[in-house]
Amino acid sequence: MSMDSGLTIYQQLGESDGLRSIIETFYGNVVREPLLAPLFPEDMGPVMEKQQQFLTQFFGGPPLFSEQHGHPMMRARHMRFPVTNERADAWLACMNASLQENGVEDELREFVIARLKGPAYHFVNTP
Ligand code: HEM
Repeated sequence: MSMDSGLTIYQQLGESDGLRSIIETFYGNVVREPLLAPLFPEDMGPVMEKQQQFLTQFFGGPPLFSEQHGHPMMRARHMRFPVTNERADAWLACMNASLQENGVEDELREFVIARLKGPAYHFVNTP
């Protein structure tokens, strides 16, 4: 849902185009982050596409990820990767920087990061 504008987060971030730009910047940050880069494949295209689908539905847009891939089970999908607390911090920092780089205003940026913190630390599976 939203803060109090009546708009979903997805709408406030600029729907498909806004989210696409945020995701492109985010993965650009990820590949320059030594804690995260080694976990990802060389071709980020498919990962970016799935992230676009997932964040669309996570932020209140159409359920694109579930339509294409079934139940998200996101923690399970991350089990084959060693997700540490430090990597969760780094993931959130890459996203925070992307939101800033895409001109998302502070209040919305902080709200978005607060929404992502729950899943990020929930995916931690390695001490
Ligand atoms: C906590 C730190 C995180 C790390 C280290 C991490 C890492 C990864 C890695 C390595 C992949 C797989 C790339 C591949 O396909 O080879 C992946 C996939 C994915 N991640 Fe994360 N991730 C994290 C947090 C998150 C969060 C917070 C979200 C969303 C709320 C998220 C959403 C996704 C999605 C949607 C996929 C694609 C899943 C699929 O293949 O079906 N991740 N992540």
